[in-house]
Amino acid sequence: MIICIGAGPGDLDYLPQGSARLIREADVVAGFDAVVNLVRPLIAPEAEIVTMGYRDQVAKLDTVAAAHHAGQRCVVVFMGDIHFSGFQYLERVERACGHPVETRPGISSAQVLASKARVCFDETTFITFHRRGDLEPFKQHLVHALADTRNAIIIPRPWDFMPRDIAAWLLDQGVPATQPVEVWEHLTGAEAQWQGQLADCRQEFSDMSIMLIRSLAPMPSQIEPTP
Ligand SMILES: C[S@@+](CC[C@H](N)C(=O)[O-])C[C@H]1O[C@@H](n2cnc3c(N)ncnc32)[C@H](O)[C@@H]1O
Repeated sequence: MIICIGAGPGDLDYLPQGSARLIREADVVAGFDAVVNLVRPLIAPEAEIVTMGYRDQVAKLDTVAAAHHAGQRCVVVFMGDIHFSGFQYLERVERACGHPVETRPGISSAQVLASKARVCFDETTFITFHRRGDLEPFKQHLVHALADTRNAIIIPRPWDFMPRDIAAWLLDQGVPATQPVEVWEHLTGAEAQWQGQLADCRQEFSDMSIMLIRSLAPMPSQIEPTP
């Protein structure tokens, strides 16, 4: 058995009970160091832990796939939710295993941000730049989403397309300098928040940051008028 689990944004209060149970019962728990460290209190003492980084992930996932094929219960933990900025890692897991694997959604940093900043998913576009490959289609999508007066929740790419690079690039594309921006760091942990306008977003943030660009023309309420 092998199952990929979204481990949530950091605080284990945000991990579903079923996912916590699967981690407790696993023979092998694997993932990037920082994510495995989040769930470490749940891992059985006799379980094997396989941590990895960007450089050795392919080789380490081969080890996990071998354990899975040998009949061990394996769990691969993902940061936040698998379905936001996690699909390239999922693809690597499936390539190592040679078949599609089961997934369990987790609570994304984007959901926590939406809750903190009170933005509605319906009116918001989610974009990640934290991925390998050509960012250009995602950059263009962001410009179009903002032009469509949608909010945007954005995961930056450490360290070459961070919030200040994103802001500078958007200004170059003619996005209004007054567009409201928030950057939230370490959500559910040692949280910090910066708020300002696009033109003011020039400072450095950590790699655990997520950006919200609010629409300049928020949608009016469409519920019935108050009696
Ligand atoms: C590879 S992406 C994975 C995102 C994850 N799948 C999710 O749903 O949140 C990793 C990036 O997500 C953002 N991130 C994840 N957890 C965060 C948190 N607790 N607070 C702020 N940003 C976070 C950071 O930008 C981090 O570098």
